[in-house]
Amino acid sequence: MEPEPIHVTRTSLPVLEDYVDHLKDIWESERLTNHGGKVQELEASLAAATGVKHALCVANGTIALQLAVRALHLEKTEIVASPFSYIASVSSLLWEDCQVTFADILPGDLTIDPMALSKSITDKTRAIIPTHVYGFPCEVDAIGELAESRNLRVIYDASHCWGVRFKDKSIFQYGDIATLSLHATKPLQSGEGGVIFTDDDEAADRIKWLRNFGHTAPDSEICGLGINGKLSELHAALGLCSLKMSGDLLQRRKDVAAAYDDAFSGNAGVIRPKPQEGTERNFAYYSVLLESGGKVEEVVAGLKRKNIFPRRYFRPGLNRLGFREIQPMPVSEDTVERVLCLPLSAEMKPETASGIAAELLGILEGKSGSST
Ligand SMILES: Cc1ncc(COP(=O)(O)O)c(C=O)c1O
Repeated sequence: MEPEPIHVTRTSLPVLEDYVDHLKDIWESERLTNHGGKVQELEASLAAATGVKHALCVANGTIALQLAVRALHLEKTEIVASPFSYIASVSSLLWEDCQVTFADILPGDLTIDPMALSKSITDKTRAIIPTHVYGFPCEVDAIGELAESRNLRVIYDASHCWGVRFKDKSIFQYGDIATLSLHATKPLQSGEGGVIFTDDDEAADRIKWLRNFGHTAPDSEICGLGINGKLSELHAALGLCSLKMSGDLLQRRKDVAAAYDDAFSGNAGVIRPKPQEGTERNFAYYSVLLESGGKVEEVVAGLKRKNIFPRRYFRPGLNRLGFREIQPMPVSEDTVERVLCLPLSAEMKPETASGIAAELLGILEGKSGSST
């Protein structure tokens, strides 16, 4: 019999009764959306958990980035972003007619390189919008100094970052704005959803009407060009359930990652990118760099034969999207070729990770690959 497939991520569903309890409240209120009690409760809990003044829930992490751009009046401006991230990090900016340029990444933690960033800034640049990729914090101090000296705004795509702390602060406290995805596969999830974190009252006020068609209140005049970016009560309730389990889920992710670490430790053929010192990790992903793209293909094919499905996250490099002018980014391009994300979820057992690691090492040593 075929073993159960193991995918790169797996959603952690809450206890159904917990969700049903929230549903009962929603049924009683007869309010399914339009910033009801569940969204308000989720926003208050997220602000309290992170120490950020405003946590504004929206429909997904992509619209969170778009609204962040609009909140800071950055649409149609020149922006520097990271080439090593998920497509939404940049498609969201292009959707706002921004002129996106890139700065290469650091080979160690794969976040944007402040030196390269400083060279990419021109007289027209208005903002830096990098990604804390895999939940690895960008060089926030250097980026902050650069932004201040060049009078630029900073929005962090912190989509992967629920649970990440850096230098004893929540990662969402860095930058003018930080955005989070609550997609079903993320460490904190509401099925679909996103959050915009900011201490900036003016930006928060704008986001409140931007996400609500331009209304500041249900019966208000339209005060500007808005969109429907609201999170529903049903999604917010799922987010509240997920938040309740968050401590346990993060610990379980950590245990799975520790099993991979044990298996790969001392193996020069499997490089494990790590965040900078001072990071409290969330293990949103478990990424490894292999010797070459060819090795990655071998491993993917070998693991697939065992019904194990890692993913080549993140590919393609965003500087090489077919619909844009190509900007060479050597470190990012090398990473895109050699990176592989191994299955990791709070639902996985550490022994499963040990088994996957053993398979992977066997493939690299040419000992594995038989179909079973
Ligand atoms: C880095 C990054 N930014 C933005 C997004 C978009 O988030 P969402 O799927 O919630 O729209 C994702 C989604 O995975 C992501 O990985």
